[in-house]
Amino acid sequence: MSEGRIKVGIIGLGRAGMGMHVTELLRFQDMFEITAVCDVDIRRARAAEKKIGGNVRVHRTHGPLIADPEVELVAIACRSPEHTSYAIEAMKQGKYVVLDKPVAMNYAEAKKLLAASKKYPGLLYCRQNRRFEPEFNNVLDVVESGLLGNIYMIRHSIFSYQRRNDWQTILRCGGGQLNNWGPHLIDHAVQLMGDKIKTVNGILRRATAVGDAEDFFKIILTGRNGRIVDVEFSGGAALSSNIYEVHGDRGSLILPSAPGAEFQMKYLDPAYPLESIKADPKTPVMADNGWEPYRNPEELHWIEKSFPITEKDGDNISTIYRHVYNAIRKGIPYRIKVEESVEVVRVADLVRQQNPKFRQDRLMKMGK
Ligand SMILES: NC(=O)c1ccc[n+]([C@@H]2O[C@H](COP(=O)([O-])OP(=O)(O)OC[C@H]3O[C@@H](n4cnc5c(N)ncnc54)[C@H](O)[C@@H]3O)[C@@H](O)[C@H]2O)c1
Repeated sequence: MSEGRIKVGIIGLGRAGMGMHVTELLRFQDMFEITAVCDVDIRRARAAEKKIGGNVRVHRTHGPLIADPEVELVAIACRSPEHTSYAIEAMKQGKYVVLDKPVAMNYAEAKKLLAASKKYPGLLYCRQNRRFEPEFNNVLDVVESGLLGNIYMIRHSIFSYQRRNDWQTILRCGGGQLNNWGPHLIDHAVQLMGDKIKTVNGILRRATAVGDAEDFFKIILTGRNGRIVDVEFSGGAALSSNIYEVHGDRGSLILPSAPGAEFQMKYLDPAYPLESIKADPKTPVMADNGWEPYRNPEELHWIEKSFPITEKDGDNISTIYRHVYNAIRKGIPYRIKVEESVEVVRVADLVRQQNPKFRQDRLMKMGK
């Protein structure tokens, strides 16, 4: 295992490349050195050179950046359709790769990526950075704690009012929120399922964005364990309710969508075991004894609490590069397996097949 800082070349210096990759890498300067940048828009590459400072090599296209001997790791943050091919090209040249989402445009491409990552093991790091999002990890901890009992239903919802008109709203450019927010929310769903995905049902719609791509999706997954995970995104919702809802047979957890909102949790106190009851076919007694007539009259002992969103191990959506460094230089297993990112693309691909109007490949075949 080699030592020292990892020399990084970044492809694409837009909102993600400049705003996230450069900013994050500059925060971890003890681990990384940005040695090269590349953007088809040379002004953006020059702006990045200025922001980074020092000796940064500027390339106009991805090929020379990947081949640059001063680049050990290629960070791919250009538009989505080029992600897979650039990643495979870099791996072939023995470079480490941090590949932003979506890692592929469809399942066929994702399988090629997986095959390449097996041929060149240890080189590919998929940037599912919201795997480190504090609220997701707080929910995962509660789900895995067992306090809510058997969890049968989870809802995860990201709503805002955007009225977008950039390339992310145009199918032939690889746009659409299924490619943009989908990889984050589907990844969360797959992790929260706690078992293999059994069924996928998705609806895509255009709400307020002005292109031809979806800016709304709703995906309902069921797992082999019977759990339902329902994820939805809207770029056309002026108000929203809960970001997370988790319901189990012993309690619930919600995270309202409001600035500074805290988790609210209500669950049965494990110190009071529930009495064993049986279904009774008889007509129930009239409710003149004070208890609500449509539920069992037993006394339930609830615990109710609220708690803030808390970072786990100092992680958030901007700390993923630290994990990349730990994997490459220290051999610490990377939390995001390539197979997991491929599963995210498989699910998204199924949703697109169910909504052919929003299929990029179909449009391409029609010559649009
Ligand atoms: N992980 C995250 O949280 C996150 C957030 C935002 C965007 N992204 C991903 O990052 C990618 C870029 O999104 P964005 O919002 O930054 O787009 P953007 O349009 O703001 O930036 C893309 C940049 O790439 C350059 N570019 C385009 N094609 C290129 C090519 N072939 N070679 C070199 N440079 C090229 C463009 O000139 C532009 O500067 C998308 O795939 C998106 O899904 C990830």
